[in-house]
Amino acid sequence: METANAGQQVDCCSFFRVAMLTASENIPARILVIDDEKSVRDLVSIIISSRGYHVASAQDAMEGMQLAETFRPELVLMDYMMPGVDGLTALKEMRCRYPETYVVMFTGKGSEEIAVALMKAGASDYILKPFNNQNLLERIETVLRIRGVELKNRELMAERESLLEEIRAWNLELEERIQKESEELRKAHEEVVHSQKLATLGYLAAGMAHEIRNPLNSISLFVQLLHEGVDDPEKLEYLEKVLKEVDRIDATLRKLLDTAKRPMYELSEVDVEQVIRSALDSFKPQTSVHRIVVEFTSSGPPPLLKADPAELTQIFTNLFLNAIHEMGDGGRLGVELYQDDKDLTVLVSDTGKGIPRENLPSIFDPFFTTKSRGTGMGLALVLRIVKNYKGRIEVARTGESGTVFLVSLPIRAEQENDAPFVG
Ligand SMILES: Nc1ncnc2c1ncn2[C@@H]1O[C@H](COP(=O)(O)OP(=O)(O)OP(=O)(O)O)[C@@H](O)[C@H]1O
Ligand SMILES: [Mg+2]
Repeated sequence: METANAGQQVDCCSFFRVAMLTASENIPARILVIDDEKSVRDLVSIIISSRGYHVASAQDAMEGMQLAETFRPELVLMDYMMPGVDGLTALKEMRCRYPETYVVMFTGKGSEEIAVALMKAGASDYILKPFNNQNLLERIETVLRIRGVELKNRELMAERESLLEEIRAWNLELEERIQKESEELRKAHEEVVHSQKLATLGYLAAGMAHEIRNPLNSISLFVQLLHEGVDDPEKLEYLEKVLKEVDRIDATLRKLLDTAKRPMYELSEVDVEQVIRSALDSFKPQTSVHRIVVEFTSSGPPPLLKADPAELTQIFTNLFLNAIHEMGDGGRLGVELYQDDKDLTVLVSDTGKGIPRENLPSIFDPFFTTKSRGTGMGLALVLRIVKNYKGRIEVARTGESGTVFLVSLPIRAEQENDAPFVG
């Protein structure tokens, strides 16, 4: 291996000639000369080191390849005709191992075909032997300049790609945020629509109840009068049926009013576990007739909540009633109560048939029912009460194996006082 340092040989034009600097390190470029002819190696080394380049030389491809490993040349000047590994093979290997090292090949005269093959294999240029010194330097400088531009270009392309990637990630994040916010907006809108529906219902209910309950009272009164003067058992049975149906209409109207208008309520420290237990007790006759197993679990200290016990009872009785109705004979009604420092949560689960997916958006709507004798007011009422306590209710799970409703009530929420939908 022979090396020559920059500036060892300075010719008369050296003031005006400066070695091409490497773009990244701002130092004179390193050039490796590989040629089996010592005279060529020496001559080339003198010419290019006089221009300020760092030069190293090797006598064959194997030595050149080893030297490249440590010397890391920006440019290799290599002879095509060499003993051992030929120039074409060495060129390919060099380009493959060190893609940032550019190669200029020396070829003999009359070997244009070879020159084409060399260019195809990745040579940046080829110089015919014997060469002119000035021409050699110019070609070297041109190749180094092209190399600088190409590498810079590659760097910029990589930078561009990473910027594009960053922009793509931002876009994705932005899209996700927009989607999330649209979803929140949609939910808020749904809630507004729902409470508007309830408010409208309130006005309608108040008017309707007033208009219907008066004549209903009269009907009930007249039927009772008729009842007293009738002996025929068949007619008596009919009159009783009429009275029963009148009562049913009256009950429905009362429920409608309950849903629409908040009755008088009184807040106190309520033991929610106690409320649940007495609500479950009131269903004992039904659960034992229908052989429904009731499982109640409560964890933590006695869960106290500032609330109206009658309203809390309404929440649970409606949920239990729905669950029991869905299960028919047999099944399991599960109630789980637990709390953390913020919320008190109750899970009400059943082993019924589940809520069909298409009904899910409507179950809290007033009048939505799938039962022949249902009013569809149960869950609307539950939702109104839960909202008054700044809580939330949702279907946590539903499917063929049953349904789970989740009710969550904040422990220290400020009570809403303007709850009535009608004045
Ligand atoms: N646990 C449940 N399992 C399956 N479906 C349910 C359950 N709870 C409610 N639903 C569905 O939601 C509908 C609305 O319930 P909601 O309590 O509001 O009215 P309802 O039970 O039909 O009538 P009412 O409460 O007046 O008896 C029910 O008709 C039913 O289709
Ligand atoms: Mg119901």
